[in-house]
Amino acid sequence: MCGITGYIGNESCSTIVAQCLKNLEYRGYDSAGIALLDDSLEVNKRSGEIDNLTVPSTSNATCGIGHTRWSTHGAPTERNAHPHTDCTERIAVVHNGIIDNYEEFKTDLLDEHQFTSETDTEVIAHLIEEALNEDGVDLREAVERVVSKLSGSFAIAVTAVGYDGIVAARQDSPLVIGHDDDATFLGSDVTAFVEHTRTVTFLEDGDIARLTEDGVTILNDGEVVEREPQTVDWDADAAEKGGYEHYMRKEIHEQPRAVRQALSGRIDELAGTVDLDLSLSEEYCRSLDEIQIVACGTSYYAGLYAAGLLEEYADVRVSVHIASEYEFKGNRDPWRTLVVAVTQSGETADTLRALRKAAGSGARTLAVTNTVGSTVTREVDDTVYIRAGPEIGVAASKTFVSQVTTLTLVTVYLGQQRDALSSNERASILEELSAVPSAIQQVLDAEPTVQREAKAFADSESFFFIGRRLGHPVALEGALKLKEISYEHAEGFAGGELKHGPLALVTEDTPVIAVLTDETNASETLHNVKEVESRGAPVIGVTSDDDPNAVFDTTFDVPSIGLMEPVVGNVYLQLFAYHVAKEKGRDIDKPRNLAKSVTVE
Ligand code: F6R
Repeated sequence: MCGITGYIGNESCSTIVAQCLKNLEYRGYDSAGIALLDDSLEVNKRSGEIDNLTVPSTSNATCGIGHTRWSTHGAPTERNAHPHTDCTERIAVVHNGIIDNYEEFKTDLLDEHQFTSETDTEVIAHLIEEALNEDGVDLREAVERVVSKLSGSFAIAVTAVGYDGIVAARQDSPLVIGHDDDATFLGSDVTAFVEHTRTVTFLEDGDIARLTEDGVTILNDGEVVEREPQTVDWDADAAEKGGYEHYMRKEIHEQPRAVRQALSGRIDELAGTVDLDLSLSEEYCRSLDEIQIVACGTSYYAGLYAAGLLEEYADVRVSVHIASEYEFKGNRDPWRTLVVAVTQSGETADTLRALRKAAGSGARTLAVTNTVGSTVTREVDDTVYIRAGPEIGVAASKTFVSQVTTLTLVTVYLGQQRDALSSNERASILEELSAVPSAIQQVLDAEPTVQREAKAFADSESFFFIGRRLGHPVALEGALKLKEISYEHAEGFAGGELKHGPLALVTEDTPVIAVLTDETNASETLHNVKEVESRGAPVIGVTSDDDPNAVFDTTFDVPSIGLMEPVVGNVYLQLFAYHVAKEKGRDIDKPRNLAKSVTVE
């Protein structure tokens, strides 16, 4: 789980490559490095963040590659930082992924090659060196020979003295080429170079691309292939902080727009219809036996939220699986099982693995993702994009609401196809969905209140979040957000479960944040609120209700919009987590030990 980038053009490129790397920093920030190709190779690398890197501003090199690392093999030290080089220091390699069989090559190579790192990547540089020693082999051919021997996942970029440009290869890890008038870029995703160009080519598994000053040639299986460039609509501003102190806060504030984008052009509110451009026929939707949702972390909680909606409104059995625990079981007709992978990045290894198990068993598959051209989209029968735009903060924020919104559209679509909802019922859900952006805006406008409460409670011993029905995944997500960015202990529970154990932990120093909106069985949760209040715990009520029995220490008011109130209430929990973390001086956009895109199992 790293970011790689590359540049070949007619400008001296050290600062360009460094900036592309900076744009990819959210993919990992354990170490960073660049290699610049001129008459010789100049490699600079450092442990820690990209800002620690010395970028040689005097270099005339017009070709370079770069890497930002999230460690898998080997500690996050300078030695293990990429680029890795061969013995002659004429070949530089950057790699995102894991080479499963590197040890067998390393054992053979050790007789004649000196290794300087503990990484799996370094074998690639030495194997390329060996291949180039053979007569008539050029860099492209050498890379082709080497990658054909590797097993595992990789996106690599290689540059070498005496050879023009960069050779890149992709297998199970993302890689995209950006085309500008005078330059060609390479990146793990478009964010790397979006301020330079939005015309891109997504590489496919098995592709070997040669990037030179004259353009790009792509080969797959030894044959030249033509891949039509696409235009992506992310602009450079969207990938920058836009005046906010942290990406996460910017992204929390982008939620009204994110929801509007998810709905745009897809719904007819009056007719109560949804068009998601899916190939799921009415006959197929009617024959559906079960939906299985596979996802991790925040995406899993979005899946739990959606399950509540799908069972009720599309009248279909739904199971939600933590992707890393998923097995396709049972004797039912697999084709009548729709497996839905919910993944912001589209690259999460656990989710892809679950999906492959499902597809291998014959199930039909659907991806709900934010990332155009991501691996998940290449492996499924259908894709629905959540259209949240780039999310740079490591902690997911706007993508949660966009996932829930998009999965609600899938619910209405299936309800429509399966005749489970009348057109009036569908129209009313769509009306409630359309109310979400302005409801979120009202919550965002209340940020000063949340900030005050976050400050008051920041030093608490522990935080508990409770909610029932659709409030339960929101409670789980609220606790995850708080723990991952503030490093404080937080747990989410179904309200009714408190008395079965967790209540033992509740004291006057453990604030309880309770979700009591519509669709959360608020009156039952109120009993749980009384249980914790009687043990002295301060309670923050996230509520749209004016129940006179509901007395909280603090109330976060959610506008009354029905079905989607819990996900709107979640915005309070994001802001609360953000301000507690800020109060504690945490590295909010890059919490310790975490990375944005988890491409290892
Ligand atoms: C939490 C968070 C993670 C991700 C999880 C899945 O804030 O971001 O829990 O939700 O790693 O990632 P995707 O959605 O990319 O599959």
